[in-house]
Amino acid sequence: MEFKVIINGIEVMVDENATILDAANIAKVDIPRLCFLKGINENSSCRLCVVEVEGIKTLKNSCSVKVKDCLQRGSDTLVVKTNTPRVLDAVKHNLELIAGNHLFECWKCPREHNCELLRLLRKFNITNVIGEDATFSMKDRVQNISNAMQLDSSKCVLCGRCIAACEKLAGTKVLGFNYRGSKTYVGPALNYLIADSGCIYCGKCIQACPTGAIKEKDDIALAESLVANKEFYTIFCMAPSVRVALGEEFGMKMGTNVEGKIYTAIKELGFDDVTDVNFAADLTIMEEGTEFIGRFTKALKGEEVKLPLLTSCSPGWIRYIETYYPEYLDNLSSCKSPQQMQGAIIKNYYAEKLGLDKNKVKVISVMPCIAKKFEASRPEMEVDGVRDIDCVLTTRELARWIKRHDIDFRNLEDSIPESALAKYTGAGVIFGATGGVMEAALRTVRDILESKDYKDVDITPVRGTDNIKEATLTVAGHEVTVAVVHGAVNFKEMFDKIKENPNKYAFIEFMGCTGGCVNGGGQPIVPSYIADTIDVRAERAKGLYNIDEEATLRKSHENKFVMDLYKEFLEEPNSHIAHKLLHTTYVKRDKYNK
Ligand code: SF4
Ligand code: SF4
Ligand code: SF4
Ligand code: FES
Repeated sequence: MEFKVIINGIEVMVDENATILDAANIAKVDIPRLCFLKGINENSSCRLCVVEVEGIKTLKNSCSVKVKDCLQRGSDTLVVKTNTPRVLDAVKHNLELIAGNHLFECWKCPREHNCELLRLLRKFNITNVIGEDATFSMKDRVQNISNAMQLDSSKCVLCGRCIAACEKLAGTKVLGFNYRGSKTYVGPALNYLIADSGCIYCGKCIQACPTGAIKEKDDIALAESLVANKEFYTIFCMAPSVRVALGEEFGMKMGTNVEGKIYTAIKELGFDDVTDVNFAADLTIMEEGTEFIGRFTKALKGEEVKLPLLTSCSPGWIRYIETYYPEYLDNLSSCKSPQQMQGAIIKNYYAEKLGLDKNKVKVISVMPCIAKKFEASRPEMEVDGVRDIDCVLTTRELARWIKRHDIDFRNLEDSIPESALAKYTGAGVIFGATGGVMEAALRTVRDILESKDYKDVDITPVRGTDNIKEATLTVAGHEVTVAVVHGAVNFKEMFDKIKENPNKYAFIEFMGCTGGCVNGGGQPIVPSYIADTIDVRAERAKGLYNIDEEATLRKSHENKFVMDLYKEFLEEPNSHIAHKLLHTTYVKRDKYNK
């Protein structure tokens, strides 16, 4: 059944479950909101979305009230107004109250350009604030800082979106409201530090937050100081998904590939050399694919091995399994992530090729992910005392850095790096989308096990945004069942499936973020009023699959530069030297570190 809604004079039809806000979205009427996040947080706490409904005395919260529940008996039409003096007064009053309990430091806040609170304060011309001295009470300020993210209660509007995202997207339920009344703040239970709270650094809370209250640990100053130090040779590398997301920060269409502009901007920022983590994504396939073939062929011979093999590229996922399912750590691939492999190869091979002391080479990576900051800082991520990666920035931080240098990013010429460590295949680039690692691995594993050169490389059952995807392929006469899961909240269901049927799956890809790295916690934040209208994950993933389709080489083992690296230095996949540089170990973590 459908109903008519006339909103500010615009007529739209909605289905019977539609809220007034849904109707407003269809009519393209912008209703202010801070707490609402579709399907995630629908607690109606901010009361900024109030509207007047003809025939009803009280103002209604448009985000939660359904059209059908406001209809007068016998009527199928609802008349709604969002711009009456009464509505505007109510919205302004609520905004003034929120502003009265906020510490405004917009000039140094990472959300200054897309803060949902600031946008509303401007839009409603809030010049008056109600509260104690019109500022946040500094004695109650809580700053909870880890080596991946930070939480600052002085920027929090207590909307609860982060708490809901942590529960419904991360599945970890780390965050909650602590204390009561004016002292209320958001953080891990019992005031634990984020690092000791079972947090997996997926950053879903950051993406959900309408303000700058939760953000990545800012490492731009560190990156700048490394680049500025003339004693160092600084090398850039970026993850696959950064190139289809960064353009959004400069007003470009979601999913636009801005790889060539990034390479140019990096040189303008003063880096000495440009490489690409896509190279190490191809290398990862050689290492992880070989690891899989080893375990799988042993299993066929009846030898005791740990299967399914679980992928190890996503550091949020690694923190998850270390904390919540450590009994499966032996199933985890021992491969380092592509970021760490890239760093290890740069320091232990490339530096020597360039005639440089590896201690003077500094690698700065740009990642879609805040967990990558934690990953790079793990004690395991070094070889003979030399760290693989020296500094990790998110996609957002790179954008801020470029903007501070007044680089006209949109109009930059494209450039192509010369380094062999920037060359990649289509398989390397799809790592950035859910299912991409599995598809890349299968392209190579299938060719190697069957000694064939498959021309049809698309393995579509592992693509798409279903929470758990499965595919069964016949490889070298054997049935191989693989699965792909993304979004940490879905991991438990995947483990339940493994437990129910321990021999079913041979290989499983896990990624901490829904949609994979394209939707990572370090990617450009899409404000909630835009996120309702577009599938961010699909749009950005499309950009990666386009690059793959257009690539001449689409299988990792076709990457000549990776194969040269084996010939010249690593000998063969999973060799002793490859293990020393490219593989790692894991630890069991307690949810709450005492
Ligand atoms: S959260 Fe928004 S209003 Fe507050 S300091 Fe940051 S940009 Fe300004
Ligand atoms: S980073 Fe992820 S796990 Fe940690 S608090 Fe945020 S949503 Fe929860
Ligand atoms: S930290 Fe952000 S998302 Fe969480 S309650 Fe505060 S303002 Fe809302
Ligand atoms: S109450 Fe509707 S957006 Fe907050």
